[in-house]
Amino acid sequence: MQVKYTQSDGSKILKFKYEFNIYKILNLFNFLIPKKFVLSILERNFTDFGLELTNACNANCSFCAYRFMQRGVKITSFEDFKKIVNNYNIIGGGDLNFTPVVGDPLVDKNIIKKIQYSRSKKNIKNIWLYTNGIYFDRFDINSFLNSGINRISISTFFGNEEKYFKYYGVKKYKEVVSNIKNLSKTNNNLGKKVKIYIHLRVELPKEKWIKNKDYLEIEKLVGKENISWLEDYENWSGMISQKDIPDGCKMTKLTTKQDKIKSPCFEMYRRMQILSNGDVGVCSCKDIDAEINIGNINENDLKSIWKGEKIKKYRDDWKMGIIPKVCEDCDRYNSIDKYISNNAFSVLIKHTKRFTRKLLN
Ligand SMILES: C[S@@+](CC[C@H](N)C(=O)[O-])C[C@H]1O[C@@H](n2cnc3c(N)ncnc32)[C@H](O)[C@@H]1O
Ligand code: SF4
Ligand code: SF4
Repeated sequence: MQVKYTQSDGSKILKFKYEFNIYKILNLFNFLIPKKFVLSILERNFTDFGLELTNACNANCSFCAYRFMQRGVKITSFEDFKKIVNNYNIIGGGDLNFTPVVGDPLVDKNIIKKIQYSRSKKNIKNIWLYTNGIYFDRFDINSFLNSGINRISISTFFGNEEKYFKYYGVKKYKEVVSNIKNLSKTNNNLGKKVKIYIHLRVELPKEKWIKNKDYLEIEKLVGKENISWLEDYENWSGMISQKDIPDGCKMTKLTTKQDKIKSPCFEMYRRMQILSNGDVGVCSCKDIDAEINIGNINENDLKSIWKGEKIKKYRDDWKMGIIPKVCEDCDRYNSIDKYISNNAFSVLIKHTKRFTRKLLN
């Protein structure tokens, strides 16, 4: 039986019911775990980890805040990269996400070398990223798929060159379609070595694109169950509005500042995001100009940064009603209380696995 469900990025996906993973079942029993206990785990160590290979992009999407970014573009040096991955590996590692706040990971010419390096470290588990897929033709696809990457999520549009330009800001429709076909055909020939997901940023209702011939060909290659589309778009802290998003889609509902200050945003406790210049942030999705800065990898190791004074101050300030500017109008906010209620078991499992791997180092 198929069910429609919403993914963590808000997009809708059709999935077979039996694919619901063990975390989802265990999370039904989250109420059994004391919230304070989970909070103390979150404060001691980060749960998710991401590394921005670059904040430079080869597109300029109407619905994305990339065009408003003030910080300079940079590609993470291989030296910095190795240092970060080595440190993550030593403390027990886990999954490694190369999705930037904005930018496209394929802009980094050394991406294959970086994935291979990460894969050579025994505590690095799933390696994955989001990309617009525009630069796949710059790489040898067999080498990309054999690099050690586990999952590639492609955000794209189906329709025609003109509409692609309207939403992606570049004339690359034919190239993207051909890249996705080539990638998924090669992956199928390799026995579906890598999980490929397609995340559509398209107009709604879906009748506008569901019979498009490029879409239908790619649906056959990738599998309908691995394709999703976004209905509600986020406002990038007020920089994006209804006029910027694909026709027929909606904007996410905004939580007022009064409601936000009741409980800090979950991102202040969940994830460590290393930026291309070595600065460390917590918000992998919306803090485009790296306002929230909790340290730098050239000054401290990952764990000390997470347990440091800077992040503690952000959390304490939040509880007193002082919140970062970028958070004021952000519609991605979710309270840490709600996050714990929904994810206590997955948090516990992730930390236990990391702790065990560290012991076995
Ligand atoms: C910012 S991009 C970075 C990675 C890569 N450049 C890409 O487009 O996949 C990460 C994801 O955010 C999505 N995104 C961008 N603007 C959005 C918005 N306003 N609301 C929801 N998702 C958005 C993109 O479509 C993409 O799936
Ligand atoms: S959504 Fe991705 S591809 Fe589009 S401009 Fe933003 S970072 Fe670039
Ligand atoms: S409120 Fe928004 S910008 Fe601030 S940390 Fe949360 S998700 Fe990021």
